[in-house]
Amino acid sequence: MYFSIISVFIVAISLQPGSTVDLAVSNLLKMQQGLGWPHRLHVAMGHEALLKIPTSEQNVQCEVTSPQGDTFNVMSPPNNRFESWGDGCGVRVQNVSSEDVGRWRLTATGNMNLTGWTELYVEEDINLYTPSPISLLDGQTHAEVELTSLDNSYCLVAQPFAESSLVSGHCRVTLERANRAVQGNWNVLVGLPGKVSELQVQVRVNVEAERLDVGFVHDTSQNKLHIYCNVLHTMKNITFCRFQMATAPYGYTVMDGLSDGRHSYYGDGFLARHCGITIENPTAVDYGSWRCSVGLQQWVGTHIEQQPAMQALVRVLPHTLQIRRQLRVEAETQTVLVEEGASFTLTCYADISLSYCWFQHPNGTQYTPVVHDDSEQEFWYTGTSLKLGECGITFAKARAEDAGQWTCHMGPSDRLGVEMTDEVDLRITGPLAAASVTEVGAGIGGTTTLYCRTANGNKPLHYCRFLSPNRVGISIDSSVTSENAILDRYYFTPDRELNYGDCSLTIDPVATEDIGEWTCAALVDDQIIEARDTITVRQLATRSRAGIIGMSIGGAFLLVILIAVVLYRKGYIKLKRGGIARNSEVVVTASRVRPSNFSSSTTSSQDSEEFRAEIRSRSVQNS
Ligand SMILES: *[C@@H]1O[C@H](CO)[C@@H](O)[C@H](O)[C@H]1NC(C)=O
Ligand SMILES: *[C@@H]1O[C@H](CO)[C@@H](O)[C@H](O)[C@H]1NC(C)=O
Repeated sequence: MYFSIISVFIVAISLQPGSTVDLAVSNLLKMQQGLGWPHRLHVAMGHEALLKIPTSEQNVQCEVTSPQGDTFNVMSPPNNRFESWGDGCGVRVQNVSSEDVGRWRLTATGNMNLTGWTELYVEEDINLYTPSPISLLDGQTHAEVELTSLDNSYCLVAQPFAESSLVSGHCRVTLERANRAVQGNWNVLVGLPGKVSELQVQVRVNVEAERLDVGFVHDTSQNKLHIYCNVLHTMKNITFCRFQMATAPYGYTVMDGLSDGRHSYYGDGFLARHCGITIENPTAVDYGSWRCSVGLQQWVGTHIEQQPAMQALVRVLPHTLQIRRQLRVEAETQTVLVEEGASFTLTCYADISLSYCWFQHPNGTQYTPVVHDDSEQEFWYTGTSLKLGECGITFAKARAEDAGQWTCHMGPSDRLGVEMTDEVDLRITGPLAAASVTEVGAGIGGTTTLYCRTANGNKPLHYCRFLSPNRVGISIDSSVTSENAILDRYYFTPDRELNYGDCSLTIDPVATEDIGEWTCAALVDDQIIEARDTITVRQLATRSRAGIIGMSIGGAFLLVILIAVVLYRKGYIKLKRGGIARNSEVVVTASRVRPSNFSSSTTSSQDSEEFRAEIRSRSVQNS
């Protein structure tokens, strides 16, 4: 049946116009059904449909029957929605609506009677299409970007700052490798069925880099502290989740369902790439810098591979954060001792994650630490990770002109603005040198410490000796304590070690004959000749002591303060030196001084700094 219709159709088309046709077909009308053109038509609502019977014959009577069954002559339509179209028999239907769906018949009556129909489909008119933003992962390869969910026949895609490209069929683009250059609004022109004009669509494409979202929540109603390090924008899965306080010797590994009574997992599970810890009933010691480490794995080809863990620092602050700030500001500048020609490392620590850091030479030249490769580099980055707030640089060779005050500049990764800075003093010295200052102040009857240590890091000393201003030679090591002090007042500074390169003398109480120039001397492990340096002890008048404390205090009150200094100092030394193992990797972020470089030239100056901060913080609390 179909075949015969088609063959008749072909015969009809192949006939030359004007040639006489006498088809001996008994039921011509029936045979010519379906001659409507186009045979099927999709029209968007409100648009126009153009229907006709393909015939060359002119001046035919043309009748239209709508799907509703209304029949009219195109020359006298029932309303102005319809008008005659084309030379032969055709109709223009304006403002197509859903009522127009169905079969439209046209009948041409002339020399030949022709009937045809067109099946009309009415589509929804899409004028506005706002697709949801598309998120891509930075570095993702062969990323398929589905730009629309429309049933379009083609689209023209213009990426930001790029030529347009034509996509046939479904609007989908494959990116070799996604990066932030494709981020932005993509302009897409879509060809839709039923419409002549193209639809303009703007698609927002975001390219997100894999990163950690860190922070903390203090749930005061339940008295819980939640700290989190969630991995965003990644295909990787979490394998472990670990938290450690920067000052603590051990950490916590947390996972759903486990608790030690106080610490448990916080988040929506590893599957959601959430890594967090809940601390119940937090105390003051739980506030500070927490380091989180998130273990990751991902598919590489057909197998799963471990990936480097992502780490960050989370600064968890109670409300009284000024106190710590103050301490930081007041902390003593770090001193690095190095011999000329040796390599040296300068390190600054931030208690938040950094995105970059750089150093300023005393002469103003800037150095941005770079990754250490095996080539002959002048300088390189040293430290675990910027993400852990470690900003370190190692120079291969120290030159005399490198001595002076270096400044490190640290850019926090979570905010823009002014960089954080810190200072490091570099001194080019001999193998043994006064640890940070070459002159210390001491009050008669007070306490002072003369501290020398090895340059270029910690090296064992074979012995340690001091020569007093009045030519008294003292040989000491850590077996000489305040209990068995030499001459009842000279002993080896507690918590320092010959083996770690310390040659340190505490004088308690200071006598008049101790004022003047002292010499420290020691034989450093890898040397043949004894190394030495000098430290001058200056007598402090009571006035200037008050000056150092930096507060104008009445005489009686000063006495109370001085007693407090002594008490505080003793407690402080014990706490600080005992709490931090010399060679441990524990990083004291609250302090500006790295443990391995931990060096107060004299306890008195360090203590007065700490003490000053303490007093200020107390006054902050009081006010
Ligand atoms: C990550 O976890 C999902 C769900 O368990 C799993 O289908 C997928 O293979 C995992 N991928 C990796 C790299 O482990
Ligand atoms: C600063 O010192 C460095 C190292 O000695 C040197 O390379 C650089 O040229 C100096 N810069 C200036 C401005 O003097």
